[in-house]
Order: sequence, then C-alpha cells, then structure tokens
Amino acid sequence: MNRQTLSRIAHTHHPIAAPITDDSVARLLDRAARAGRGRALDLGCGEAGWLLRLLAARPAWQAVGVDLDAGALTKARESAQAMGLERRIGLHHLDASEFGAREPFDLVLNVGATHAFGGLLPTLAAARTHLAPGGTVLVGEGFWEREPSRAALDGLGAAREDYQDLAGTVDAVIADGWTVVLGHVSSPQEWDDYEFSWTGSLAEWALDNPGHPDSAAAREAADLHRAEWLHGYRGTFGFTTLLLRRTAA
Ligand SMILES: C[S@@+](CC[C@H](N)C(=O)[O-])C[C@H]1O[C@@H](n2cnc3c(N)ncnc32)[C@H](O)[C@@H]1O
Repeated sequence: MNRQTLSRIAHTHHPIAAPITDDSVARLLDRAARAGRGRALDLGCGEAGWLLRLLAARPAWQAVGVDLDAGALTKARESAQAMGLERRIGLHHLDASEFGAREPFDLVLNVGATHAFGGLLPTLAAARTHLAPGGTVLVGEGFWEREPSRAALDGLGAAREDYQDLAGTVDAVIADGWTVVLGHVSSPQEWDDYEFSWTGSLAEWALDNPGHPDSAAAREAADLHRAEWLHGYRGTFGFTTLLLRRTAA
C-alpha cells in the first residue's frame, strides 16, 4: 500500500490532516478570512479540508489548492462537487514550490506541509510571494512541547533540530517580519482524537477488507503508528497554527 493511499484511509473520519478539531478550524478561518470576498491559496491542501470549509462559510471567496497527491485532489474534487463548490475552487496537481499565479491571494495556507518548502521560514518566504498587500498567512507547524526522547524522534522520523519549542517557533516567525494575530496550540484532546482516528480508521479498514491484498499492511501500519505515538512522541510533539500578517510592507 503506498503512503498516499494509506494516509487517505487513515483520514477517513478526520479529513483535516492535522490535530485540529472542526471548531478550532472554524475559529481560525473566521479570523483568517476577514473580508467579505477574497482569494485563498493552500500550498499542500491535501483533500482541501480547509479550503472547502472556507468556501462553505464565505460565499464570495474563491480558492486554489495545490498538492502532489493526485488521490487527495480527486477526493477534494468529489467533496467540492457534493458541496456545490466546484466552480469556486481550482485544484492543481503540482509541487507547491512550482506553483505560480498571475494574481496574488488574500489568504495563503500551509498547514502540516512546511516540509514541501524545507521548513517553516522557507514556507513563509514562499507564501509571501503569493500574498496580496495586507494579506494573511495561516501556517501550521510542529514544535517540541518538551525535550524529545530517542523514542519520540524515532517515532516521528525527525531530528531534534527539525523543530524548536513554542517560544522559539513564535520568536523565529516574528524575527522574520511577521505579526502573530492569532495562534492555536493543539490540545492533548485534539491530539488524542486525531491519532486515535488515524490509527482506528486504518485498522477498521483492514477489518472490513480482510481479503484485500493491502489488508495486512494497513493493519501493520496502524499498529506501528499507534506504538510510535503512544510509546514515543505523545505529549512531546506539539502543533501550532498561526495566523500571520506582515509587520511592515
Ligand atoms: C499533513 S498533510 C496536510 C494537508 C492539509 N494541509 C490539511 O491540513 O488537511 C500534508 C500535505 O502536503 C502535501 N505535500 C507534501 N509535499 C508537497 C509538495 N512539495 N508540494 C505540494 N504538496 C505537498 C502532501 O501530499 C499532503 O497532502
């Protein structure tokens, strides 16, 4: 089973691919899309969960999503059609670093996809190239809640220097010329809901598809991920979603 198919099944009951509840998503989007009309771009949109929620709540907004995962984009198109939003969203199967548009965007999102640009600050630099004057960036990034153990690093496949603590993360963003106008830190409950949903959806799929050639692999992936989380990074790896505006033009 390839990684993208596995991830799609794992996100069956939690389409936002980050430890954030629907209520938190709605609150962040409400502040992010302040104007009555506007254009949003998601660089690493996955199934376009953020953009579809935004369009449903803001009838005069348009959106563009970019992702490397063709299957996630197919799911995004199906969801857009089911919600009657397909005319207001463009979806591009492309490396986010290669995306170019003629007009700038009022809101640029990148949640859980900063690896597409090699980290948080390169992601903000890329977002800035797409941002209209006075526009807003919504970026979601991991951080260390506490010093990571070897098991936490192994479970995440990360190095200590890949992330900072929350203070260091926010300080770096501010030093890069951004004003933090709102921040969300995923709660332990949001993390537990997300991880149990991820592993549970995959394990349930394996139960429901016993004859499928990928059934055993799905079960193994769910078991491995659960162990990496519970015995590794639970309580150590945090996630923050920051709403940013340029401090000076
Ligand atoms: C953790 S998911 C987050 C998806 C979405 N932002 C959300 O919150 O639901 C990360 C996404 O980044 C995408 N991605 C990774 N590298 C990328 C790249 N270079 N260009 C475009 N998308 C990329 C993956 O395919 C995946 O859909």
